[in-house]
Amino acid sequence: MEQIPYPLRTERLVLRRFEPTDLDAYYAYQSLPETARYLLGDARSLAECMERVGKFSQQKFSQEGDWASFAVELAEQPGLLGEIALKWGTGGDAEHGYVGEIGWTLTPQAQGKGYATEAARAVLELAFGQLGFHRLHARLDAANDGSRKICERLGMRAEGLFQQNWFLKGEWTSEAVYAILRSEWRAQQ
Ligand SMILES: CC(C)(COP(=O)(O)OP(=O)(O)OC[C@H]1O[C@@H](n2cnc3c(N)ncnc32)[C@H](O)[C@@H]1OP(=O)(O)O)[C@@H](O)C(=O)NCCC(=O)NCCS
Repeated sequence: MEQIPYPLRTERLVLRRFEPTDLDAYYAYQSLPETARYLLGDARSLAECMERVGKFSQQKFSQEGDWASFAVELAEQPGLLGEIALKWGTGGDAEHGYVGEIGWTLTPQAQGKGYATEAARAVLELAFGQLGFHRLHARLDAANDGSRKICERLGMRAEGLFQQNWFLKGEWTSEAVYAILRSEWRAQQ
């Protein structure tokens, strides 16, 4: 697969590679219980954030199982607002296309402005274009309305609901899976 051509640009945003200097802003939103509310893990410690930002800033997207983390910031006002994550999953190949997963997180102050959807669109366009993906899916807590609405705005299909598949934050929750094929993405552009 081709290397990720950082940075990507949209109307309002720049999606770039993480840098070690993103640590404070990353920790500020990743340490919030509201950020972790619908995620598998708990709010992250400073040590976890240091490890993750360090890893993100040196990521290679060279084999199945690898992740690409896009740091999202405003074009006109640099500063980390959140991230889009793209995973190269198992099941595709260079000839027929790759399969993978996409996810998103924004700092609370940046929510409600369409930034996550705008940034995810740029990553889908890259994935289905230059990177040669065939299919992308998203996995979410079915109660995560914000995330579900992003999937719907992107034209992703609700493919499954796994009842009480995750024990999260003290209760059984259901997992929803949304997905989109390259042909479907192309058809709606
Ligand atoms: C999931 C998450 C990224 C959704 O954030 P979000 O801000 O709702 O999503 P977007 O950035 O796409 O913004 C969409 C909202 O902005 C509104 N909006 C306001 N101005 C807008 C504009 N100029 N253009 C587009 N949308 C705009 C939209 O109407 C929409 O609001 P609505 O959902 O009330 O209809 C966020 O809640 C989050 O980070 N949660 C914590 C981590 C998490 O759960 N991640 C998902 C794991 S699966």
